[in-house]
Amino acid sequence: MHSVSFGKCKKLSESEIKHEWEDVQVPLGDRSYHIKIGPGILLESPGFLKELGPFSGPFIVTDSNVADFVGHDLLTLLKDNGYKTSHLLTFPAGEQSKNMDTVVALARSLVEKGADRNALLIALGGGVTGDICGFLASIYMRGVDFIQFPTTLLAQVDSSVGGKTGVDLPEGKNLVGTFSQPRLVLADIGVLCSLPAKEIRNGIAEIVKYGMIKDRELFETLEAKWWDVVNLEPYVTAFLVKRSCEIKAEVVSKDEREGGYRRILNFGHTIGHAVEAVSGYTVSHGEAVAIGMVAVSRISASRGLLDWQDVERLVRLIERFDLPVKVPEELERQAIIENLKRDKKVQDGKVHFVLANGIGDTLIVDDVSDSEVLDAIDGS
Ligand SMILES: NC(=O)c1ccc[n+]([C@@H]2O[C@H](COP(=O)([O-])OP(=O)(O)OC[C@H]3O[C@@H](n4cnc5c(N)ncnc54)[C@H](O)[C@@H]3O)[C@@H](O)[C@H]2O)c1
Ligand SMILES: [Zn+2]
Repeated sequence: MHSVSFGKCKKLSESEIKHEWEDVQVPLGDRSYHIKIGPGILLESPGFLKELGPFSGPFIVTDSNVADFVGHDLLTLLKDNGYKTSHLLTFPAGEQSKNMDTVVALARSLVEKGADRNALLIALGGGVTGDICGFLASIYMRGVDFIQFPTTLLAQVDSSVGGKTGVDLPEGKNLVGTFSQPRLVLADIGVLCSLPAKEIRNGIAEIVKYGMIKDRELFETLEAKWWDVVNLEPYVTAFLVKRSCEIKAEVVSKDEREGGYRRILNFGHTIGHAVEAVSGYTVSHGEAVAIGMVAVSRISASRGLLDWQDVERLVRLIERFDLPVKVPEELERQAIIENLKRDKKVQDGKVHFVLANGIGDTLIVDDVSDSEVLDAIDGS
């Protein structure tokens, strides 16, 4: 990490790095922590580690892609800056690694490398790494500390905030896990430049979601600066990551364990998850959420909660980011309806939908009919 590598996006030289970090506090009593955001922040990670006090390791947990992009450089940086006992543990990249076998393999590597109860784990990677490493930290020797260095836009705006960790089972996603908060999150915008476009779009869909549920101004910033967003202009992106983290942190701190309020984060996700599953995961998460947000916005507009003009604005914004707004023709409509009812968040046989109550506000209802869903996904 000699300079911040921006790949296709703007390259920042070391002198262009401002060394001023966006800071978001996640207020959770004695488990409160900070999210620090900015291009180049990983270069200063040794200083941040020092502030955490004594620990053993650290043990960087990362996937096989991120090991090549940043993992080895981070290991060198830490070793060169006083952390001689740093280690790098890797697993094969991809959702298919998010399972118990990977957790057991990593736990055994920790034992082999001498990790004790004072170990500090670093989750360096996307949401898959964050979920695996957070879970591992919460159970290894009955719990050790961990910090997050999210390297996908989705991880920076979503999965690294909120403390949900876990892995998948053959029966379904995220079925085993814990609530466990990191001690610190460092989101380096610079590392996002090596991300494939599809991964950037996954993160952007979540940022649009935050605008829709909580912040009209954020939505308008996305409209006005969409070109900077596409190109991951570092300081515009840092602002968007900060605002997204603030919104998620605010929601999570009011409802850490998903009692009710946290449900607003599922805007676009109820229909989105069904589309994702019925497509056999050929529709990506961000694409499915984009489709889901447009569909629930149409339901909201037909119920008089949202102006049709605002539905159009949402459609235009989503299209700017090359995300889809319609359910692919080939997906069975009835299968989507059936899937909605199997969603693990269904309670008392009722599916909860987060509707848009204008741009920037929501209303949760449980009386959306199948025909309203069908009309909305096919564009009326
Ligand atoms: N815990 C939560 O609250 C929460 C919230 C949302 C999603 N999630 C979970 O997050 C996961 C999805 O996260 P994701 O989209 O980040 O997936 P991911 O971690 O698989 O990353 C996507 C791909 O990008 C690669 N990658 C990561 N950083 C890179 C970089 N800087 N440059 C180039 N390539 C890079 C990875 O190797 C991987 O191939 C899912 O498992 C989902 O369940 C968890
Ligand atoms: Zn999501």
